[in-house]
Amino acid sequence: MPPHAEPPRTSPPEKQATASSAIVELRDVHKRFGQQVVLDGVNVAIERGKTTVILGPSGCGKSVLLKCIVGLLRPDRGQVFFNTQRVDTLSESKYATVRRHIGFVFQLSALFDSMDIFENLAFPFREHTRLKEPEIRRRVVRALRLVDLRGIEQKLPSQLSGGQQKRVAVARAVIQKPELVLYDEPTTGLDPVRAAGINSLIKKLKQELGVTSIVVTHDLESARAIGDRVLLLIGGRFIADGTFAEVADSDDPKVRSFFSTTAEQIDEIEAAQRDPATQPHEPIAESVSVTDDAETPPPPLSSTDA
Ligand SMILES: Nc1ncnc2c1ncn2[C@@H]1O[C@H](COP(=O)(O)OP(=O)(O)OP(=O)(O)O)[C@@H](O)[C@H]1O
Ligand SMILES: [Mg+2]
Repeated sequence: MPPHAEPPRTSPPEKQATASSAIVELRDVHKRFGQQVVLDGVNVAIERGKTTVILGPSGCGKSVLLKCIVGLLRPDRGQVFFNTQRVDTLSESKYATVRRHIGFVFQLSALFDSMDIFENLAFPFREHTRLKEPEIRRRVVRALRLVDLRGIEQKLPSQLSGGQQKRVAVARAVIQKPELVLYDEPTTGLDPVRAAGINSLIKKLKQELGVTSIVVTHDLESARAIGDRVLLLIGGRFIADGTFAEVADSDDPKVRSFFSTTAEQIDEIEAAQRDPATQPHEPIAESVSVTDDAETPPPPLSSTDA
């Protein structure tokens, strides 16, 4: 078995990224918090230009894994490479330079509540560049157009719907044209129509900007829709690796159990959505248009609802 492969693979070896084409590579990455082992020897090479989806049950370490890639957490053991450069040992200031090539859409949209949308998007330019105001304005408008939002520059995050906040978070992640975008649960908390809109957006960004994406989710529909490759994280390691169909058809009992449990949870959520007594604050009927819905904003939501 090659040194960085993990059993069991469900796709043929020729589909795996080689180290030279990998934008990110993790070698034997371990991370624990106190006695709790979260990552227990993760090995993976992420291929450039593709969308890799990481599936796994709640609490299995998906967000921790993304944070180990972007340097918000450092592994206890193992190595992390970005564009063949070892990054886990870099100083914070050197990591900050690497991080400019990586966009991160956080699990909660993580917009600055007190800044309007224009300032939220202008922030990276004000922090890291000496661009003049007209150029910043041009880039902010372009980024908002890319995520199909217009005319919301003066609004605060709390005045946007959950779906709009996610789109702004995506715009902020891609505004500096990163090579790699990490999405942490981009569709969680969104109704199916808005979730489909975010999936389309991720595909569009791949096609139009050629960015590599790593998408963490427990949304099977999203994984099927956007994943060129799907990895399943359970017990601190990837236990399946292949296309969505290959992983979903795996005979491994742990993989089958994840898919059947998750499918049951989806059924329960959909049943709850059909039951008016359990409707969320934001009526589904409002979400019919996921594009250009800035003209008729839904009632204010807390930014943490996203
Ligand atoms: N900074 C931290 N300090 C201590 N424990 C942490 C820290 N970050 C994460 N953990 C723990 O590590 C485990 C994995 O967390 P993580 O956020 O990666 O889960 P997840 O797979 O993203 O779950 P979810 O799908 O619910 O978002 C959890 O048990 C969590 O409590
Ligand atoms: Mg998480």
